[in-house]
Amino acid sequence: MSHSFKGRDIVSIKDFTREEVDYICKVANGMKDLYLGKGTPRPLNGEIMSSLFYEPSTRTRLSFESAMLKLGGNVIGFSDPTWSSAAKGENISDSIKCIESYCDVIVIRHKLEGSSKLASEVANIPIICGGSGTKEHPTQALLDILTIKNEVGEIDGLKIALAGDLKYGRTVKSLAYALSLYDVELFFVSPTLLKVRSEVLKSLDDAKIKYSEYEDLDSIIDKADVIYATRIQKERFVEESEYEKVRGSYKFDINLMKKGKESMVLMHPLPRVDEIGFEVDALPNAVYFKQPYYGVLMRMALLGLVLGKVS
Ligand code: NCD
Repeated sequence: MSHSFKGRDIVSIKDFTREEVDYICKVANGMKDLYLGKGTPRPLNGEIMSSLFYEPSTRTRLSFESAMLKLGGNVIGFSDPTWSSAAKGENISDSIKCIESYCDVIVIRHKLEGSSKLASEVANIPIICGGSGTKEHPTQALLDILTIKNEVGEIDGLKIALAGDLKYGRTVKSLAYALSLYDVELFFVSPTLLKVRSEVLKSLDDAKIKYSEYEDLDSIIDKADVIYATRIQKERFVEESEYEKVRGSYKFDINLMKKGKESMVLMHPLPRVDEIGFEVDALPNAVYFKQPYYGVLMRMALLGLVLGKVS
C-alpha cells in the first residue's frame, strides 16, 4: 500500500484514517536508529523548519526541533511572540506568507481556534499544528497513539479513561478523535464544569464508540486499561473564580493507583500541576516520561513524511 504524505498539512487529527495512523506509527518506530544518531545520510539534510510558537511550550517545540536536527535538518523560529512582529499587530496570514519563503515546513502553535487551518490555507508549504486553541493538537494525539501501541499493545478492545479538563484541553479532544478510529470504550472523567464538549460526543456517536461520563475516578479506576490524565487549563478560564471551583478536583496518588488493574497504564501529555503525586512517577505503569521519547520519534516521522524524504 502506498501512502503519499508529501506536501500534506497536519492541522487536524480528523483528517486521518486508521490505516494512515497505523502507517505513521510504523514509520515512527522505524526512526529509532536515526534517533540514536545511527544511519546516514540523514534524510532532511538542507531542509529548514520554522517553529512559530505564539503560546508557551516545552515538549512540543523542543521535540519538533530535536526531531528536525536528528534528521539532519535546520531550525529557525521564535518561542516568544513578543519578539516577533505579532507584537506590532501583524496578523498570522501576513506572517505566514513571508515565513514560507524562509523554510520548507512550518510548525505553529497559537491560542486562536482554527489558527493552523488558516495558516495552511495561506501557505504553499506544509503546515503542522503544534496546538491550536482548545480543540486541536494532532501530533500529540499521534504520539499518544504510538505510546499506547508500544507500551500496551493492540488498541482494539481497550477501555481508556480520559480525565481532567475535557472542556478546554486540546490533547484529550484530539486523542478522543484518534481513538475513535479503533474499537475502544472511553470513560470521560471530569468536574461538571469541565465536561467533554457535545461535538466530541456527537462524533463518537457517529463512529459508534461506546462511552460514559463520570465525575470521580473511583467509578472507573478498576476498569480502565489506560488512564490519560490532563491538567486543568487555568489560562483558558475567563474568570479566576471559576478555576478555583475546579482546582485540584482530582489527584492520582499511590492509593488510587493501587485500586487500578496491575496492567493499567497512566499517561499525561504534561505539564502536570498537582493532578499526579510525585510518588507515582516511580511506578512501572506511569509512562508519562516515556511519552516525550515517542514524541520525538513521531515528529521525526511526520517531518520526514510531509517533506517527502521518508516513506
Ligand atoms: C499540552 C498543550 O499545550 O495542549 N501540552 C503539550 O503539548 N504536551 C497540554 C497542556 O498544556 O496542558
